[in-house]
Amino acid sequence: MPDGMIAGVRRSTAHDNALHIRLAAFNHCRMAPGLPDANWHEGIAIQARMLVEEAEFLEASRRAVSARAETAPSDADGFVRWFKALERDGPGQNDPLFAWLAEQASLPEMCWFLTQEISGEAGFDDLAALTQVGMPVFTKLEIARNYWDEMGRGNPKGMHGPMLEKLSVYLKLAPKIESTVTESLALANTMVGLAANRRYAYQSVGALGAIEQTAPGRAALVAQGLKRLEVPVENRHYFDLHAVLDVKHAEAWNAEAIHPLVTANAALARPIAEGALMRLECGAACFRRYRAELGLM
Ligand SMILES: [Fe+2]
Ligand SMILES: [Fe+2]
Repeated sequence: MPDGMIAGVRRSTAHDNALHIRLAAFNHCRMAPGLPDANWHEGIAIQARMLVEEAEFLEASRRAVSARAETAPSDADGFVRWFKALERDGPGQNDPLFAWLAEQASLPEMCWFLTQEISGEAGFDDLAALTQVGMPVFTKLEIARNYWDEMGRGNPKGMHGPMLEKLSVYLKLAPKIESTVTESLALANTMVGLAANRRYAYQSVGALGAIEQTAPGRAALVAQGLKRLEVPVENRHYFDLHAVLDVKHAEAWNAEAIHPLVTANAALARPIAEGALMRLECGAACFRRYRAELGLM
């Protein structure tokens, strides 16, 4: 059996872990507002090396989903039906981890899970903002509406990022790259890699759409677990909200962002499908690893 393979499922290796720690650090700097730096020559040389490592990782992930992506229809109506069906039959869907979190996990177990998830959270708002650059009008407008919801429609209390931070502060979580499992880092590195490189712009539309399509079911079960563990309602609002709002976001993303793209150019079905599958495979790998770490297998 090759290194990293157990029962047909590839497990992360020490090499993967080192790569994803490097990429996570790179992405942290890449997304942070900065200042001009006298060492910019050296900075660009380091960036170039990291971009090659990132591309090798993303291309391997893309190859791994290409056979299934090829089965996606290329007519807009058929493609949107295929995309919606990922909620039922996509990689990682119906993972038993979430029923367990809803019904059985202890508070320390829930906190461990949330710490991993928060560490692997790449910030939907910034990913959406990067993805919309240069998109056609309908797609750009839908991403803008979604972004405005992420921004609490202008009300700081309604912003989604700070809402998750509020839960993290209440539970005294301390997400750190070093204590995050490789699979969770890989998920964030995939999302940033797709959104930050224009050659993956359509994969990013698919990956963000896959989040909207699949998040509500998981969010509802996490919300149920937090309520059972007596986390006050004002601190668990992030999961209550996404259990409901992302149903609407998914409908709108499919109708207004994806459908017009595939109508205008049938060749875009394939990259959108690849992005969705890459994102869902990352999620599936996280859930397997979380179950292993939590002794659920
Ligand atoms: Fe959100
Ligand atoms: Fe959403």
